Amino acid sequence: MKTRHTKQHNKKRYSKKMRWLALPGALSLLLFIGGCNHDKPLNTLTSDSSPDAKTINDLFFVVLGIAAVVGVLVLGAIIYMIWRFRNKSKQPDPYNPDNPNLSVLEGEDLPTQTHGDVRLELAWTIIPTIILAVVAVFTLIGIFEQHRISASDDTLKVDVVGQQWWWEFQYHLDGDRSTPPDFVSANELVIPTGQQIPLEVAARDVIHAFWIPRLNGKIDAVPGREHTWRLEASKPGTYKGQCTEFCGLSHGTMKMEVRAMETADWNNWARNQMKAAAPLVEGDVGYAGQELFMTNCARCHSVSGLTDTNADGEIDSWQIYQGDKKIQNELISGAAPNLTHFASRTTYAGSIFDTYTNEIKGIDYLRASEVGNIDVRGLRSWILNAPEQKPAAASESRGMPAFPNLTTEDGDALIEFLMTLR
Ligand code: CUA
Repeated sequence: MKTRHTKQHNKKRYSKKMRWLALPGALSLLLFIGGCNHDKPLNTLTSDSSPDAKTINDLFFVVLGIAAVVGVLVLGAIIYMIWRFRNKSKQPDPYNPDNPNLSVLEGEDLPTQTHGDVRLELAWTIIPTIILAVVAVFTLIGIFEQHRISASDDTLKVDVVGQQWWWEFQYHLDGDRSTPPDFVSANELVIPTGQQIPLEVAARDVIHAFWIPRLNGKIDAVPGREHTWRLEASKPGTYKGQCTEFCGLSHGTMKMEVRAMETADWNNWARNQMKAAAPLVEGDVGYAGQELFMTNCARCHSVSGLTDTNADGEIDSWQIYQGDKKIQNELISGAAPNLTHFASRTTYAGSIFDTYTNEIKGIDYLRASEVGNIDVRGLRSWILNAPEQKPAAASESRGMPAFPNLTTEDGDALIEFLMTLR
C-alpha cells in the first residue's frame, strides 16, 4: 500500500510540474513550427527567388548538416555517459535523508580516473579545425561572390541611401554614377527580373543595414562609405526588407521592399518615373493642396518640376544626395522622401503603411494610382501628426514633424494633391 501511495503522490507532483511547463513548451513549439513557414516575407531560406539567395540557402544546409551530425554525436555521447556512469548504489543522501533522488558515492567504485589522453586531445582539436576550414572556404567564396559585379557598365545601377528612418533609391539608367541620377524614389526599389542590379549602399546619418532576405544577405550602410552590393530577382514579386542595424528610435519600423517585374513592365515604370510633375494651376484638382505643400512640406520633400528648394531639375538634389558635404550633413532640406511619383508607390512612412486599402489583396503595381482605394484616414493621420504613428525626433531633424497648424480639410487637400503625383 505504501508504494502505491508514493507512486500516486509522485504522479501528482509530476503533473503539477508539467502544467508549469505546458505553456512555455507550447509557445516554443509554435515558434519552432512558425519558423518552418517558407512563405513568410522575411524568409531567408529560399532558393528560387534569387541566385544569391540560393548560394546562401545551399551553404546553410551544408553547414546545418555538418552541425547536426556533430550535435547528435556530442549530445549522444553526453547522454550515454550520464546513463553509463550514473550512481547505481542508491544510498541515502547524508545531508538530506528524505531526498529520494540523491544518494552518495560512498561504497561505490569510482570509474578509472585519467588525466589527459594525447590521442583524444589531438582528435578533438584536428577534426573541428578541418570541419571549420572547409566551412570557411565555402563561406568566403560565397561572400566574395556576392560583392562581384558581373553586370555590364552601361546597365541600370542604383544608389541606396539609408537615413533615419527610410531608404532612398537613386536610379542611374545608363549605369553612369558620375552624373546625377535619372530619378529618385523611396521605400520601394523597383527592378527588372533576371538581371543583376549593382547597388552602392551608403548612409546619410548613422549606420543602417540594407537587407532583402529573399534576394541576398545583409550589407551595412555606413556614412562616408559606399558598399558594393547586388540584387537579382529571378521572378516578379514583392520582396520585403528591414533595416538590420540599430539606428535609433524607429529602427524597428525602417522597412523597405523590392518590387521585381518583367523587363517590359519595368521599362514602362521607369519611363513614367522619369517624368517631372507638371505644376497645377488654379482650378485644377489638387491645386489647394499644392499650395499647402509648397508652404509646409517643400522644405524637406521634393517633387521634380515643382519644388525649387531642392529638386528643381536634378542639380540641387544631386548636391544634396552626393556632392557638397555641408549640404549632405544638414538633414533639413532634401531630408525626406522624394514625392514626385508618390501615388505610384504603394507604401509610405518607411514602407510601414499601405497607401491603398486594397493593397492587402495585392493590386496591380503599375496601375496602383488608378485601381487603388486611397487610405485617406491613415494618410491624413500621418500628414497631420506623423510622430504619433512612428517615433521620431523631428526637433533634431530626424523623422517627420507634426503639423498642428493644419486642419483636417488641409490634410485632405494635401492628399488630393499627392494623388496627382502618379
Ligand atoms: Cu536604419 Cu536601423
